[in-house]
Amino acid sequence: MEQKELKVSAIKNGTVIDHIPAANLFKVISLLGLQSISNQITFGTNLESGKLGRKAIIKVADRVFSDDEINKIALVAPMAKLNIIENYEVKEKKQVSLPDEVSGYVRCMNPKCITNHEAIRTLFSVVNKAPLALKCHYCEKVTTEEHMIIE
Ligand code: CTP
Ligand code: ZN
Repeated sequence: MEQKELKVSAIKNGTVIDHIPAANLFKVISLLGLQSISNQITFGTNLESGKLGRKAIIKVADRVFSDDEINKIALVAPMAKLNIIENYEVKEKKQVSLPDEVSGYVRCMNPKCITNHEAIRTLFSVVNKAPLALKCHYCEKVTTEEHMIIE
């Protein structure tokens, strides 16, 4: 049997977010607000992956995420898989899924949109999943994946 080598150490309890496109690792960190929590976090990036070319992985100790938090990840890592770890074992696997509506985090690409001028949270409906296209609730312009700015 082929020996499985862990590039990032196993964790005892928490969440492993695997199969993140390497280019979007820091976007996932930011979407989940990981830069401002005190849990132990380890990550690896530019790891080899058959499916993605180069993937990243994030391991957050002693933390589980809500479905809303998980689904935000779908914006930048549609193939991400979450593994809930308990006492070193994979207790549950979750696939991210794109919600029908996206609220906040993404900027409307229309410079004239009210959300770019006033303190109004953006709101979009998902009009296409791959490539991602979001239609603004306020100005009705469609922001496509290539123009997407995540904040
Ligand atoms: N993992 C971990 N700590 C543990 C158990 C698992 O960090 N105590 C990580 C593994 O390194 C892996 C992920 O959690 O990145 C999923 O574990 P597992 O299901 O055993 O791996 P695979 O079968 O490779 O999962 P998949 O093919 O679903 O990605
Ligand atoms: Zn708009």
